[in-house]
Amino acid sequence: MGEPRKYRYMPEKFPRRAEVTGIESSVLVNMLLSAFADEVLAWYQYYLTAYAIRGNLSTELEGVFKEVAEDELNDHAKKLADRLQDFDVDPPDFRDLWQLSKCRQTELPEDPHDVDGFIIAGILAERCALEHYRELFQYTHGRDPATEEIVEDIIRDEAEHETIFRNLLSKDGLRRLEELEKKS
Ligand SMILES: [Fe+2]
Ligand SMILES: [Fe+2]
Repeated sequence: MGEPRKYRYMPEKFPRRAEVTGIESSVLVNMLLSAFADEVLAWYQYYLTAYAIRGNLSTELEGVFKEVAEDELNDHAKKLADRLQDFDVDPPDFRDLWQLSKCRQTELPEDPHDVDGFIIAGILAERCALEHYRELFQYTHGRDPATEEIVEDIIRDEAEHETIFRNLLSKDGLRRLEELEKKS
């Protein structure tokens, strides 16, 4: 069986948006698509993590990762997809998500008992998302209040996610995170 054809999620041309001034719709749409891809891949990373973690804390962590995953998909990705609809853009073809994404997936530990490793991967994913949203915020600030507000909401959530994850680290995990921070 051959590959199904990619469906077209981009319109022939973007509709004019009265709330947007002084920015290029195509640039904005690409940024929104990239953030959308980040969210879907972050959802998948946390969903996978919830099932993959083993050990005494696994049940508790499964709950936390599933809750955060829920935010990424049903709140953040949804808000971005809704905003993209204002530009006649649909959610991208699944095969394009990896290319569109900036943060993609942070490296996961091979050992399912390396709980700190999974949590650190989550922290790094959140930090990448925060950097990415700061770019989107700077681009839209004062020029596209609709997107700007969505981005502000999401930034608050990502900062909270980072804190939730950091508070789950063991002492040893915190030391590992500090080592990583020194290197970067
Ligand atoms: Fe998110
Ligand atoms: Fe997040």
